[in-house]
Amino acid sequence: MQSSMEKVARLADLPLQRGTRVKIGETPILLVRDGDAVHAYTADCPHAGAPLEKGALCHGRIVCPWHKGTFEISDGSLVEPPALHGLTRYASTIEDGDVYVSPEPLEPDARAPAGGTATMLVAGAGAAGAAACVTLREAGFDGRIVLAGTDASVPYDRTALSKFVLAGDMPPGDVPPLFDPALFSAQRIERVESDVVALDASKRRAQLANGTAVDYDAALVCTGGTPQPLDVPGAKLANIHLLRNRDDASGIVDALKHCRRAVIVGASFIGLEAASCLRKRNIETIVVAPQKVPFAKQFGERIGVMFKQLHEHNGVSFRMERNVAAFEGDGAVQTVVLDDGEHIAADVVIVGTGVKPATSFVSGIALADDGGIDVDSGMRAAPGLFAAGDVARFTLPRAQTRLRIEHWRVAQQHARVAAYNMAGASRVYEGVPYFWTYHFGKRFDYLGHVTEPDDVVIDGDLDAQQFVAYLLKDGKVGAVVACEREDQTARLAEAMRETLTLDAAREAAKG
Ligand SMILES: Cc1cc2nc3c(=O)[nH]c(=O)nc-3n(C[C@H](O)[C@H](O)[C@H](O)COP(=O)(O)OP(=O)(O)OC[C@H]3O[C@@H](n4cnc5c(N)ncnc54)[C@H](O)[C@@H]3O)c2cc1C
Ligand code: FES
Repeated sequence: MQSSMEKVARLADLPLQRGTRVKIGETPILLVRDGDAVHAYTADCPHAGAPLEKGALCHGRIVCPWHKGTFEISDGSLVEPPALHGLTRYASTIEDGDVYVSPEPLEPDARAPAGGTATMLVAGAGAAGAAACVTLREAGFDGRIVLAGTDASVPYDRTALSKFVLAGDMPPGDVPPLFDPALFSAQRIERVESDVVALDASKRRAQLANGTAVDYDAALVCTGGTPQPLDVPGAKLANIHLLRNRDDASGIVDALKHCRRAVIVGASFIGLEAASCLRKRNIETIVVAPQKVPFAKQFGERIGVMFKQLHEHNGVSFRMERNVAAFEGDGAVQTVVLDDGEHIAADVVIVGTGVKPATSFVSGIALADDGGIDVDSGMRAAPGLFAAGDVARFTLPRAQTRLRIEHWRVAQQHARVAAYNMAGASRVYEGVPYFWTYHFGKRFDYLGHVTEPDDVVIDGDLDAQQFVAYLLKDGKVGAVVACEREDQTARLAEAMRETLTLDAAREAAKG
C-alpha cells in the first residue's frame, strides 16, 4: 500500500446499491463498492456538480441524479452525456476490511492515436458540437478538427437561459461554458468563429462566411434550430423576442427592466420556463397558446393540468385555445390582439412556438420536409456526412419511424455516436432520451419518448410535485415523468434501455 493512502471507510459499511461520499482533506471522493473491491472517484459530477452518491448504481454504471450523465463503475469512463468526460480516479485498496484511498488523482489512461491526416468538420458549436469535438479525441482521432459557428467562442449551456438568466439569477455572461477554453489548444481543436454558408455533401466541401473553404473527410452537421417568428401583423415591432441564444436572452433581460406586463406566446417548455422566470420578477404574465392543456400531447392531460395549476398558483394567467391575430404598438409592442378579439396590454412579448432545423446551407442530400436530416442508426446521412441534435431525424431503438427530438442530452448522445463513427468505429444509437425542465424551483425529469400516451399511472402525489408517472403506450412504459424522485429516475434511465411493462418499471425504480 502507498504510504500516503488514507483510511476512509470500512468495506462492510459500504452499500452495494449506491455510492458513498467521503472526504480526504477538502477533496470529495465517491466510494463505489464492486463486490469485495472498491473504486474511488471524484464525488461531484463533472457536468454540473451533482452529488453522485445520490444517483444510482445499476447495470455496472453510476448514473448522476440530476441530468443522468452515466459512467462505468469499473473505470469511471463516460457512457452517457451531458458530462463530456469521465470521472477522475483515485487509487484504492482494502486491508483488514478497511478501505484506503490515495489523495492524489490517477493520470488518465493514454489512448493510442489513430489516423493523423484526416480533417473532421463540426458545423455548429452548441451541445452536440462540443460533445463531438471531445469525443473525436476520446475515440483516438488524431487529425484535424475544425469547429465552425458564431454563437459564442466557447460553447455554453443554453438550457440555463430560460431557467436562471431570464429570472435574473444568472447574468448572461455567467452562463456556464461546456468546457474550459484551454481545451481548444490542449485537444488541438481549430475554433473558427464563422458560420457555414454552404456544405456540399457530394464534394465534401464547406464554405464559411469568412470566405474560407474547408475540404473535409467527414463532417457533422449539428446546427440546431432557428426559432420561428409569428407570421402576423406587427410581428416585427420592438420588444417581441425569440429565445435561442445568449444574445437573445440578454435582449430579453434588458427589456424586462422596464416591463410590468408580459405575454408569452406558446405553452412550450421554453414558454412556461420563461413564464416561471417572469413571475419571479413579479411581472404580470399571460400565456397564450392554441392547445387546451399545456404538455397534454407529451405527458397526458392530468400532468398537463398539474403544470397549468402550478403556474396559476404562482400568478400566471392563461388564454388557452387562443392564437395571436396581431401585435399593435407605436414602434414597440403595446397590445397583443387575440383571435377572439381580446386585446392584452404588454410591454414585452416572448414567442416560444418552436424551431426549424438550421440546415438551409446543406446540399448534395435530400432534406426532410421540416428541414431535418435523415440519418441511420450510426447518425450517418451520406458517405462522409453525419448529423446530430435538433437537426437529426433518427430512429429510436426498437422503433420504426424517424423523428427529431429537441433535447440537450439526446444531442450529445447523437454526437458521441457520430464522432466515434467519424473516427472509424461502428456504433449505433442505443440511448434513452432524457429531458429536464424547471418551473418555480422544481425540476421535472422526462425519460423515454411517447406521444399521446394511452394511460398515465402516477405513483406519489402529483399535485405536491413528488411523483413518478408512467406513460403507457400499447401496454408498455413509453416514457416516465417525475419530480423529486432523482434516484428512481437515475435507475430508470438505465433500465429503460429495455422495453418495460409497468410492473417491471416499478420494480426497476425501486432498485
Ligand atoms: C432556452 C432553451 C432552454 C432549453 N432547455 C432545455 C432543457 O432544460 N433540457 C433539455 O434537454 N433541452 C433544453 N433545450 C433544448 C436543447 O438546448 C437543444 O435540444 C440542444 O441545444 C440541441 O443541441 P444542438 O447541438 O443540436 O443545437 P444547439 O445547441 O442549438 O447548437 C447549434 C449551434 O449551431 C450554430 N449554427 C446555426 N447555424 C449554423 C451554421 N450555418 N454554421 C455554423 N453554426 C451554426 C448555432 O448558433 C448554435 O451555436 C433548451 C433550448 C433552449 C433554446
Ligand atoms: S450534474 Fe451530472 S449529468 Fe448534470
